[in-house]
Parts: sequence; C-alpha cells; structure tokens
Amino acid sequence: MKRQQMHGLAMALMLTTALPAAAAHAQAATATSAKPWMNPKLNADQRADLIVAQMTQDEKLTLVFGYFGSNQEKPKFTPSPEARMGSAGYIPGIPRLGVPPQWETDAGVGVATQRESSDPYLERTSLPSGIATAATWNPELAYKGGAMIGSEARDSGFNVMLAGGVNLAREPRNGRNFEYGGEDPLLAGRMVGAQIRGIQSNNTISTIKHWALNGQETGRMTVSSNIGDAAARQSDFLAFEFAIENASPGSVMCAYNRINSTYACENDYLLNEVLKKDWAYTGYVMSDWGGTHSTAKAANAGLDQESAYTFDKQPYFGAPLKAALADGSVSQARLDDMARRITRSMFAHGLFDHPVSKKPIDFTAHAKVTQADAEEAIVLLKNDGGVLPLTRTARTIAVIGSHADVGVLSGGGSSQVFPIGGMAVKGLGPKGFPGPIVYHPNSPLKALQARNPGARITYSDGSDPAAAAKLAADSDVVIVFAHQWAAESQDYSLTLADNQDALIDAVGAANPRTVVVLQTGGPVLMPWLSKVGAVVEAWFSGTNGGEAIARVLTGEVNPSGRLPITFPASADQLPRRTIDCDPAKPDDFCDVDYDIEGAAVGYKWFDQKGHAPLFAFGHGLSYSTFGYSDLKTSVAGGALTVSFKVTNTGKVAGKDVPQVYVGPKANAGWEAPRRLAGFKKVDLAPGASTTVSLTVDPRLLATFDSKAKTWNIAGGAYEVSLGASSRDLGAKAEVTVAAAKLPVSYDAPK
Ligand code: BGC
Repeated sequence: MKRQQMHGLAMALMLTTALPAAAAHAQAATATSAKPWMNPKLNADQRADLIVAQMTQDEKLTLVFGYFGSNQEKPKFTPSPEARMGSAGYIPGIPRLGVPPQWETDAGVGVATQRESSDPYLERTSLPSGIATAATWNPELAYKGGAMIGSEARDSGFNVMLAGGVNLAREPRNGRNFEYGGEDPLLAGRMVGAQIRGIQSNNTISTIKHWALNGQETGRMTVSSNIGDAAARQSDFLAFEFAIENASPGSVMCAYNRINSTYACENDYLLNEVLKKDWAYTGYVMSDWGGTHSTAKAANAGLDQESAYTFDKQPYFGAPLKAALADGSVSQARLDDMARRITRSMFAHGLFDHPVSKKPIDFTAHAKVTQADAEEAIVLLKNDGGVLPLTRTARTIAVIGSHADVGVLSGGGSSQVFPIGGMAVKGLGPKGFPGPIVYHPNSPLKALQARNPGARITYSDGSDPAAAAKLAADSDVVIVFAHQWAAESQDYSLTLADNQDALIDAVGAANPRTVVVLQTGGPVLMPWLSKVGAVVEAWFSGTNGGEAIARVLTGEVNPSGRLPITFPASADQLPRRTIDCDPAKPDDFCDVDYDIEGAAVGYKWFDQKGHAPLFAFGHGLSYSTFGYSDLKTSVAGGALTVSFKVTNTGKVAGKDVPQVYVGPKANAGWEAPRRLAGFKKVDLAPGASTTVSLTVDPRLLATFDSKAKTWNIAGGAYEVSLGASSRDLGAKAEVTVAAAKLPVSYDAPK
C-alpha cells in the first residue's frame, strides 16, 4: 500500500471513531490546561519553560542520560525493550509529563543499523555518501534527499537522526571524508544545511556533527586538533556556522577528538563560548558515542546530554551528575538549562506534537530520490576523444573489477545503511566494526546491458591483470571499476588498494578506449591517467548507484557533478606528507598541527603554495559546453552582488555550476589568494542562457579578529573571478568594498 493510501485510511478511521467536535475540543482544552506546554500556539521557548518548571530532579536527569539502542557484548548491555533494537541510541521519555522518548538513529545517508546488534539489519534506502551529495552542488537535491531519509527514519520509529556531518576535509586521507561535505565552508555549509533542513521537515531532530575539527580517524579518540581561533572561525567553524544558520539543527554532536588539548565534549571554548554564546545556539549538545570524559567539567563546559553511556569509561551524567548537583560542582541552573535545551528542540522540531509511529515505506519512490542525487553527484574528470558517452556502435564492452557485475560500494562504519534485498557480495571486510564491506545490489553491468541490448558485455573480476588486459584488447570499449573502501575509525592511503593501479595500467595500455569509474570516498592518485580515455568519479553512489552510473556513461544523463575536494597530484603537496598519530597506538595522546595550513584548507592551500593539483576543486566536465559573459558586480548596503550570464554553447541539454571566487587585490591578511564566494547550479537546453545573481556573505570577505570578536572587512579593491573550477577562472572584475566590522553574532539574512 502506498503512503498516500495509508493516509486516507487513517483519516477515515479517525473520522468514524471521532468524538463529537465540541466534546473533542473540551477534552483537548482540559489536556492543555493540565499540560499547558502541549499548547502548540505557544513557542518552543515558552513550552520548554513550562515543562521544565514541572520536572522533578530525577526527571531532568533522565533527559540528559543516553542509552545505546543495541545489544553490546563489551560491556554486557541489553537495551530497554522500548529502545529500537539495532539503533544508535535511546533516551527514555517522561510519561507523566507527556515527554516522548528520544529514539536516535544514524546517519547521513539513511537509516543505519548498528553492527553490535544480533537482530536483523534494517533494510533501508541509502543516499549516495555525503561527499557525493556535496558534489552535486545542488542544495535542492540535498534537501530532497534529507527529506526522504528523514521520512524513513520517522516511519521506522525514530525522532532523532544523527546526520549532518560537516567536518571540513582538511586531510584528504581522512576515512570519514565520505560522510562530510568537502573542503570549502560555503559549499559544505550550504549542502549539509540543506540536507538537515530536509531531515527536520519530518518533525524529526537532526544533529550536526562532529563539533569540531574531527579531521582524521587515526588516533580519533585522543588526537588534539591544534589551531588558532581566527583560523578555525574562517574554516571549519564557518562550515558549521553556515549550516546551523541555514537549518537550525536541534542538536550538535561534539566530537571525539581534543581541540587545543581539551576534549571537544568538555571544551568550554567550543561549546559555551563559540556555539552557545557567540552564535546564540538554542539547541542541545550531545556527546559522540564514547566522547564524554567527565561529569562537572563536561556539564559546565556546555555538554547537555551524555549519549549511550556504555561507550564511555563510566557513566558520567547518571548518578555522578546527581552527586555533582548535590555537592554544588554543577549548579541547578545548569541542569535546568540542559533539560530546557533538550525539550526546547523537541518542541521546536515537532517531537511532542507529532508522535512517531512505524509506517510502511515507499521504497520505489525513494529509489528515484537517491538515484537523482547519485546522477548529479557523478563527476566526469577526464574525457579525451569523446570516449564518453558510450555509443551504440560499441559492440563489445568489457566491464572489469569491483563487483560491478552485481553492485556498487558503500562507505562503512556507524553510518552504514544495509541494502534492500541484502548485500550484493557477502563476507567482505572486517568481521567487527567498521565492517562488513557492503555493496548495494544495483549492478552497473546490468544497467549498461539494459541500455545496450545489442552489445556483448563481458565481465572480468580484475583479479588477473593480464587476463583483464587481454579482454580489454579484444573489446571496443573497456569500463574498469576501481574502488577505495573508506570507513569510520580508519584513514586510507591515496594509492588504490589491491593492485588496482597495475590493473588499470595494464587495461589502459591494451585499449586506450578505457573508462575508469572510481568508487571512492575522496581523492586517489592516478598514475595511469595518461593511458586511459576517460575517468568518472562515482563516489559511493547509494541504493540505485548502478543505474545512475549507467545513465551517465551512456549519456542518458549529462554529468554535472563538480569536485567538492581537491585531488592532489602527490602527498608531497599536502600540509602533512603523512598522517600524524600512530594507528597502532590509538590510546596514546597525540597532536595534529592545523596551524600549518590554518584556514587555507584544500584548494586554498594549493593556491597559496602554487601547487598544481591532479584535479582542482570545482572541476567537472559535461557532454555539453558552457560560456560565461556579462560579469557585473555591485555593492549596495555593504553587500557585494555578482551577476553574470551562462549559456549552453553545446549540442545537448545539461547542468552547469558557475563558480564565483573572490580575493583581495592587496594583502588583506587572507589565508589564500581567493575563496569560493558563490555558486549556482543551472539547467540549460542547448543554446539557452540564463542570468544568475549571487550575493556574497560578508564573512567571506572578512578575516576574524579574535580579540575584538568581530569579522573585519578591509576596505579596498577585490578581484571577483568567474569560472568552472578554482583553477579554471575566466572573466574577472574588480570591485571596491568599504571597510566594515560585523559582530561575531552576525547571521546571514534569512
Ligand atoms: C560516530 C557518530 C555516530 C555515533 C552513533 C560514533 O562512532 O562517530 O558519527 O553518530 O557513533 O553511532
């Protein structure tokens, strides 16, 4: 039964069993007068004040103390029957006051299942990974994807989704980059913010995470991310700031790592000062699973809820918090604030007014949503001699490697969504966390065959490069699928694993009409690049990834993804040649010096150093061509507006992403020559044009003054560049901007 039909049925039942209108009204009024916080006409602040005033101390303590939602071997833990088995977390409700439980599920690509659970996996729709959605540069798609997974969360019985990963990709080898929004604060903040808004459109709270500077997985529970205040505010913090303004996430999840030697979840600077004071954040801070390290220190620094306490060395917020309140090391006002923040978000995001209930999910409709995202995420990196799109004249096609005969790869760890219909390949990867390696059963090969019924498509698993090269030589076109599995808790190398470079090299040498399809969570090196005709970055493409890849390869979809992360030509170009900390000693304290690059993350570092990347931030080809003209700038009321015309100068319809970069003409103390200041995804028929107008957020013209706590714009001349990537800048304009100072509390106009 479809969701719409369910709705109709539920309505009919309600009508036949309904009380007469006057009686129902009287009953509701009595309920509201007994529980005045249930009056939806009051705002979330008023409702939270009213309910907290009625809570006993133990009820407040209930709200701030989280349980795991799944069975655990070590420590032995069986969750309450009321928890959703296999889930990430559960916080009991307070039935006396009508406070619903908080049922928490991971994460950013859909409803995940915890591996500790002995219960069957939930099979749910998976979006492409976060970095893939960022590669669409299309906030509307991110919103739609968020709305879809948020509805699956709600219809699976959850009201809190642990999504919204927005850590900047400072370290291209970070094993969790695939969950995040890339390396630029504007792009990441907009894309992840749009996804959070989508999730929360379902009367569901979404987190934003992992606050902050959670830049690598090596030593993730102990590493200290060391950085100065201004550099952090102009980079990693700014991504959070943009997303929070855009989406008002109900909760912020503090990170595992330390910041300047203090754990994120007991870091007064991070939680109280930046988040709650400077940005006036009104939601609550929950710890990451195992991220709480103290009672009074954490509570006083601004942590509002200890998550899944069994992951911590001991429970910190249960009985120990009660004791800390009794001995005065935590004030009553602080506990009241914690309870108030949690209930405020629950009111603001509909958790009281719209109780969750499990409902059937329309997986067919949702497959279309994830496929649209995956299609726009695919980045055509190289296409020499028109190898792509595949034409019907290719009679023999070789498909090689990466289980492309049966499915598409996904990223691993707590965000893992288990496929509808089961895993395409079983028994891969680590037995414990962050395994298994999961392939969604959506075969690129079958999707290609369906679109080329006349072609003979032969599959080789790629384990024997010589045999694969022989097949390649005998084929009109070759499609090699290469992959780099990425997963929470481990970083990876820029070099493709399992001898795949040698495989691609051999195949490319045998047939230059070779297309490489990469399934990675971030950049990899491509020593074979000159030997192949085309390269496509498909990321981890989600439930319908095979269809999406085939549609792009065959030209049914014109590729329009753009890189949200720089692909380096070598590790020598990075701020750190190797990753700090020792993966063999995860409990040892270690440091990573982010002051090396400061706010110059990704392309900004490459621009500052003059390094030539393998593929630049913002890069992506199309089967069409686009021209830019009429670049104009204007400054009104202190705001810089940039407008220009985009024309599809090619023969096929397609989407393009014109990008505006801004930089000061004279040294204004910026971290890099220029910053991304605006972008727009446009959809144009051949020959068609559109005019785009973008207003630049003034913080992108400013540097942060930590002492005065102001964003300072230096008056003077700025260069505005319009282009197709950070390294493909065409038209330039000069604009004079007046000096200005903005308060630390500055918010983008809504
Ligand atoms: C991850 C979080 C996740 C949590 C709950 C942690 O290991 O870092 O991103 O939400 O687990 O599963």
